[in-house]
Amino acid sequence: MGKNVFVTKYSQLPVNLGKTVLIGEKNIALFKLSNGKVYAIENRCPHREGVLAEGMISGEYVFCPMHNWKIGIVDGVVQEPDEGCVRTFPVKIQNDDIFIVIEDLDSQSIKYPDKCVYNESFNE
Ligand code: FES
Repeated sequence: MGKNVFVTKYSQLPVNLGKTVLIGEKNIALFKLSNGKVYAIENRCPHREGVLAEGMISGEYVFCPMHNWKIGIVDGVVQEPDEGCVRTFPVKIQNDDIFIVIEDLDSQSIKYPDKCVYNESFNE
């Protein structure tokens, strides 16, 4: 069971503008898409660690600000012709509060996953 960490108010999170969230040693990019859903992914591009919260958002994708890799915000998957993935974090919304669910709060760093795993978001 993960720990719910409050990060911000839903009403204060702009649409299509990434927000950097630091939880312990974890650097997470939070996005509210134009459909109103909120997603959290690791804030580090698997190419050369570009800051994804500063990238341009288009639909359900973010373009890394450094070399323009296209990365899925929902599933963390890097789109072809590039490859790889970033970790995703479940998000919970209760009333106006946004929480990120962290399974391993004590671990020092985010490890790149061995393979891309869809991490279901709870913010229906
Ligand atoms: S660091 Fe993200 S595309 Fe190069």
